[in-house]
Amino acid sequence: MMRLKYNKASFLTALIFSFTAVLLQFLLLAFVFKLAFASYGLILLLEFFGFFIGAYLILSYTLERFLFSRVKELYASVIPTTSYVSTISQFTDIDLLTSNLKKLNSDKNLEIDLLKKEQAYRREFIGNIAHELKTPLFMIEGYVLTLLEGGVEDKKTIKKYLSQTAKGIDRLNFVIKDLDLITKFESGMAKLNWTSFNIIETIKNVFELVARQAQERKISLKMDKVYNKPIQVYADEERIQQVLTNLIINSLKYGIERGTTEVGVEILKENKILVRITDNGEGINEEHLPRLFERFYRVDKTRNRNQGGSGLGLAIVKHIIEAHHEKIFVESEARVGSEFSFSLTLDQKSAL
Ligand SMILES: Nc1ncnc2c1ncn2[C@@H]1O[C@H](COP(=O)(O)OP(=O)(O)OP(=O)(O)O)[C@@H](O)[C@H]1O
Ligand SMILES: [Mg+2]
Repeated sequence: MMRLKYNKASFLTALIFSFTAVLLQFLLLAFVFKLAFASYGLILLLEFFGFFIGAYLILSYTLERFLFSRVKELYASVIPTTSYVSTISQFTDIDLLTSNLKKLNSDKNLEIDLLKKEQAYRREFIGNIAHELKTPLFMIEGYVLTLLEGGVEDKKTIKKYLSQTAKGIDRLNFVIKDLDLITKFESGMAKLNWTSFNIIETIKNVFELVARQAQERKISLKMDKVYNKPIQVYADEERIQQVLTNLIINSLKYGIERGTTEVGVEILKENKILVRITDNGEGINEEHLPRLFERFYRVDKTRNRNQGGSGLGLAIVKHIIEAHHEKIFVESEARVGSEFSFSLTLDQKSAL
């Protein structure tokens, strides 16, 4: 059932219509039939109200039906045909239909904004990939073409060029492997291999893996204290090893020469532990912290490129930690140092 609401246009039209009808009658009765006003005045007044109410009801009902059918048509043309039948039949009221149209419109606008953002994001991502691949590729191309031209005779120089070419290929490999991993996590295809393992052992393994880099920068790599007992956690060991490697390598790359990188494990309540990687390196200005874990984000783009970073390391770390439903934190102060920490869950079955 349709509800009638006050409608100004119908009100004025009904008023004019009833006034004109009564006026015409008055003119007819008074000037043609020469009747005294007192004999029909009350009848005319009642007639006026009767005409007015009748005309107002008919007009506003017709107008509302007309508008309703037009809005309904419009609505039907903008919503998908599959949902049309089920949704349109619910509307018997023009206000409801109009508010739904407005909502539909704002939903669509939001959708368009989101698509535009995603498109810009994708464009930026592809641009970044191309850039990251181009740099080592140009280097490889340069050395290979020089060698092919045959002008270089000196064996030492040839070897140097070949080893630079190999470095470029390594770099390409790293970037492609990192991108592959990020894509797997983002598409939800990366599966975790959950096991119980001793995190202290894993940290020591990583120390061995990066020992050469630490030596090169004369950075001392150590645990914050002696851990006599194993600390068993339940996670994907290989991936957590990668998290530790990425964070520790960062602390070496952005740490000061003869500085210190310290790793500590703190047992929190509710079966959680916190692994901290602390350095006394260059630190990070506060303004960069919110974007630090974005892929390809680097604080100092020029200098980091010389150090071979592409800004994917922390994005991978974040993906791995989030896939474990754990959290990653960063605290840093420029020229003082940084501390990256992440939570892990203890393996409840094994005694501590
Ligand atoms: N321990 C740290 N101290 C100071 N700056 C850091 C530290 N760790 C990361 N950063 C800053 O954060 C940026 C992003 O780090 P991320 O590991 O994602 O990329 P990257 O090290 O440049 O490259 P990649 O890890 O892909 O080789 C770095 O470029 C660096 O500027
Ligand atoms: Mg890194």
